[in-house]
Amino acid sequence: MTAPLRTGEPTIVEVALGARAYDIVIGRGLLAELGSRIAALKPGAAAAIVTDETVAARHLGAAEAALGAAGIRATSIIVPPGEASKSWEKLQHVCDRLLDARIERSDVVVALGGGVVGDLAGFAAAILRRGLDVVQVPTTLLAQVDSSVGGKTGINSRHGKNLVGAFHQPILVIADTALLDTLPARDFRAGYAEVAKFGLLGDAGFFTWLEANWQDVFAGGSSSGSFAREHAIAIACRGKAAVVARDERETGDRALLNLGHTFGHAFEAAAGFSEKLLHGEAVALGIVCAFEFSTRLGLLPTNEAGRVADHLAAVGLPTHIREMPVRTDADALMTLIAQDKKVKRGKLTFILVRGIGKSFVASDVDPGEARAFLDQKLSG
Ligand SMILES: NC(=O)c1ccc[n+]([C@@H]2O[C@H](COP(=O)([O-])OP(=O)(O)OC[C@H]3O[C@@H](n4cnc5c(N)ncnc54)[C@H](O)[C@@H]3O)[C@@H](O)[C@H]2O)c1
Ligand SMILES: [Zn+2]
Repeated sequence: MTAPLRTGEPTIVEVALGARAYDIVIGRGLLAELGSRIAALKPGAAAAIVTDETVAARHLGAAEAALGAAGIRATSIIVPPGEASKSWEKLQHVCDRLLDARIERSDVVVALGGGVVGDLAGFAAAILRRGLDVVQVPTTLLAQVDSSVGGKTGINSRHGKNLVGAFHQPILVIADTALLDTLPARDFRAGYAEVAKFGLLGDAGFFTWLEANWQDVFAGGSSSGSFAREHAIAIACRGKAAVVARDERETGDRALLNLGHTFGHAFEAAAGFSEKLLHGEAVALGIVCAFEFSTRLGLLPTNEAGRVADHLAAVGLPTHIREMPVRTDADALMTLIAQDKKVKRGKLTFILVRGIGKSFVASDVDPGEARAFLDQKLSG
């Protein structure tokens, strides 16, 4: 673990992908540098900002001013907030508006928002004029540590989430940690589950650091005077960048990022992918399940599952399946897990753990074991 940041200087994490390498720049107040950083990468380019109504009301003016100050011609495209905007209809709308604004191959799309805007705008950029450059400016904690990095973009289909999309790496990610000051506490907490995930999947020292410093991460630099939030985001991004550089297209290691997600997706689906259970909340439940299931399978030398659950509960995340906002049972959950395309020849793929920071891909899990585990959790 690197030492926590002590200065307000931006931290730069490189995503090492050869000719498609790019920087993630992390720091408080970086939105003001949006124009100068784009101008440095693409002199003379025009920009189109894609954002949602909620983010537009809070941060679009500052983004437009930053582009204007650098002499960048800019247009803004605003979609409704929420998962429903990851649709064919909104994709068409964004593409048409980009063409209306005469955005050319040499120009740039700026995705200003959470994971929804990042996925939608990133996908529009991937397909319009056979590929436009995109700059990701994530405004949720989840987007800053996860969705803005790694190049997965896409929309949902009536057949399921994220089924239509493309790998399209950004040319730059600007994570302005001050933008998170306006994020509702519940969304911040949900994103924190993904931050903790990076410690739990491969960096035990980071998890220990989070246990001691999470309050400063939540408070942010403005009130605590520390750079704990920036540090946590930088370490999480470093973790994601390393995995993406090793396995950009998820043929192997990148699957480790799904720690907690096989159980989590089933919980999310059981709750109808609704506000009742946010993605990060489902991931928190799923992470605890992954640790407890690993314990049940005899993989954990000691009961570290309790330590994981204690930390996630301390920040206010749900950690027990009985905190699910809807009633469900083991059979229903197993059906959802099986639909999650992770079944091969009757065996399930899970990310399991041998300890905090020691995750691995297990592709031969017996569905009967998983079912028995869920049944026990739901009843006791
Ligand atoms: N591409 C990837 O690798 C990847 C990874 C993980 C998740 N995702 C996707 O990300 C999406 C979830 O992202 P999310 O959790 O960021 O949700 P989101 O984009 O819907 O944002 C959550 C809510 O917060 C609001 N908001 C955003 N920034 C704000 C701010 N600074 N202040 C106030 N309100 C703000 C939004 O308007 C929205 O209502 C899902 O669609 C998921 O599939 C993609
Ligand atoms: Zn996730």
